[in-house]
Amino acid sequence: MKQLIELTAGRPIFGGKCLSEYDGIKVMLERALPGEKVSAYVKKKKSGFMEAVAKEIIEKSPHRIESDCRYYPVCGGCKLRDVDYGHQAYIKEEVIKDCVRRIGKISDCEILPIIKCPVADNYRNKTEFTFSKMRFHTEHDRGTDEEGFNLGFHAPKFYSKVIDIDHCNLQSDLMNRIYYSLKMRLKNTGLEPYDVVRHEGFLRYLVIRKSNADEVMINLITKSKKLNETRSAADGLIKEFPQVRSFINTINPGLATTAFGEETVLVAGERTITDTIGELKFELSHDTFFQTNPSQTEKLYGVALEFAGLTGTESVLDLYCGVGTISLYIAAGAARVTGFELVENAVANARRNAELNGVNNCVFRAGDMMKLAKDGEIFREHYDVLITDPPRDGMHHKVVEAIISSGIKKIVYVSCNPSTFARDVDLLNQGGYTLVKVQPVDMFPQTFHVETVGLLVKRGQE
Ligand SMILES: C[S@@+](CC[C@H](N)C(=O)[O-])C[C@H]1O[C@@H](n2cnc3c(N)ncnc32)[C@H](O)[C@@H]1O
Repeated sequence: MKQLIELTAGRPIFGGKCLSEYDGIKVMLERALPGEKVSAYVKKKKSGFMEAVAKEIIEKSPHRIESDCRYYPVCGGCKLRDVDYGHQAYIKEEVIKDCVRRIGKISDCEILPIIKCPVADNYRNKTEFTFSKMRFHTEHDRGTDEEGFNLGFHAPKFYSKVIDIDHCNLQSDLMNRIYYSLKMRLKNTGLEPYDVVRHEGFLRYLVIRKSNADEVMINLITKSKKLNETRSAADGLIKEFPQVRSFINTINPGLATTAFGEETVLVAGERTITDTIGELKFELSHDTFFQTNPSQTEKLYGVALEFAGLTGTESVLDLYCGVGTISLYIAAGAARVTGFELVENAVANARRNAELNGVNNCVFRAGDMMKLAKDGEIFREHYDVLITDPPRDGMHHKVVEAIISSGIKKIVYVSCNPSTFARDVDLLNQGGYTLVKVQPVDMFPQTFHVETVGLLVKRGQE
């Protein structure tokens, strides 16, 4: 029998938790807002520390609101849909402060007020959905008999089941209409969803991506190739939605549960779509990264550019450069920019994007950053400023070591994970870099995710 305790939620910390106290013991409390009095069950107990999950709210925070989504909170995509937006922003700001102080061990740097997102919904330009034979029943669809064809999001903790959904508030209305139409078309073909347990079936994932100008790319990930059926669904969809400019079929016959595969077939349209950031155009392939909230991307890059403090003479290194977005955004302010990136298609897109935008002072190279760091490839040349924007795991310690050894004067660290950001900042601090300031940017309303830009300067070079 799980122990139940009554306590008040303290300040927000990373991972959607609040740091609280019970009987003089520190408690990491889940599913509560700061200030809420809750009864919670104890998940883990160690000496001087507990983990607990709120079961019932005894005194509600004034920031709780009604959720406007029937899949919330079961779907798991949104974690803060029943919290007013101002408070969501406050929580994220506090989480960043906590990570910088506790994980980064830095107490004297300036943390600027978060840049809020002007829209709290319909902001995502890319969404990934999963097919499954197994439905996870939500409160609303209990009793329905649609087991067999389900498309939606993975049920948290049930890897073989999905929560069948008809729309997602985080993506645009156009994406929702295209999603539903394609879902129905695929269902009517009789094609079977993939069964993760038996490794049987056909339909695995669906990724929808939309540009600012409403060019849409569909990537349907299947276990094998059935081109007649896929083509018929694609043709029907394009007739209804001419905005669909690219329909790709990625074949993933393997056991890995990912939306990537061995082969990609162009079913209809072009292999790429074109998106924009400000005046710049970007060609995007199906497997390349692009910031998911276009209304905030320019602000994020604007902060990176401001922190870089370029005068036009600098040689800039852009690590984890994707399709060259940051490189091209800052190119006019620098003498030259070199970008490094893992995904070959992204590097090809980046080179093409430089051409598309008439930029001729950027070069892009493909490679795994850890290997490039180990082989001494990243700092073959001299650079004045480094901009780094790694994935959620942060930078490999070999990459951090290479940066420290290079002695580069200024680092602008763009991060989508405050905890790995703070971990890397701690290493860089030990290596002689001072974290001068941090700018939180909210790119992901309704979720705990937040973007952070940090400026680090080599001590003695300020
Ligand atoms: C957060 S994205 C940033 C991309 C780009 N700066 C932007 O704003 O669009 C991280 C990028 O790192 C790349 N990446 C992930 N692991 C990598 C690795 N081991 N080596 C090099 N690049 C990697 C991903 O493909 C992705 O393009």
